[in-house]
Amino acid sequence: MKPVQKEDDMEDRRTLWTFWGWLAAAALLLCTVPAISAATVDVARPTNPGGPGAAATLAGNTESGAKIFAANCMPCHGAAGKGGIPNPGSTDGTVPPLNPIDETMVSKDSKAFTYNIDLFLQNGSTPDGPHPAIRMPAWGADKMLTQQQIADVIAYIVSLNQAK
Ligand code: HEC
Repeated sequence: MKPVQKEDDMEDRRTLWTFWGWLAAAALLLCTVPAISAATVDVARPTNPGGPGAAATLAGNTESGAKIFAANCMPCHGAAGKGGIPNPGSTDGTVPPLNPIDETMVSKDSKAFTYNIDLFLQNGSTPDGPHPAIRMPAWGADKMLTQQQIADVIAYIVSLNQAK
């Protein structure tokens, strides 16, 4: 009788080890999945559809961009893009600052950085929230600025946010 009992014991132990083994594997998997998805962060995109404009490939003038910014963008994005302008009815509660700009838009690749900003300038965007009082106008699509003016103001925003 005794040897048989021993055999059963070992079987139990083996089952237990298999159980803990699977548990450890599952825990490892659960830990790595969020780590992988966190590595590919979504870049902020405008709610309005539409592609980039010619501005995305034009050379911009930072000094001219600073003047365009002061005349057109400052009322909503604050002096030097520092933000703090209230936007009641939006989830954020304020118009986003552009200095610093949303970090998902920043890129060391200047073409990618320009492209990310240009999409908002061309097409405009409505912030999240039940009834945001302020929206981002479509400067390109509605022809409120020329493509060269948009290129200039993009150069200015990039200068405020030198990629780290
Ligand atoms: C009438 C107010 C208003 C004016 C004027 C305005 N914006 Fe905006 N802008 C907004 C709002 C509101 C958002 C947020 C949109 C969203 O969350 O989808 C925004 C978003 C942006 C973004 C994307 C940044 C982010 O974090 O979402 C950029 C870039 C931007 N604006 C640049 C400009 C520039 C450059 C000008 C001037 C040519 C300008 N804006 C003028 C209201 C304005």
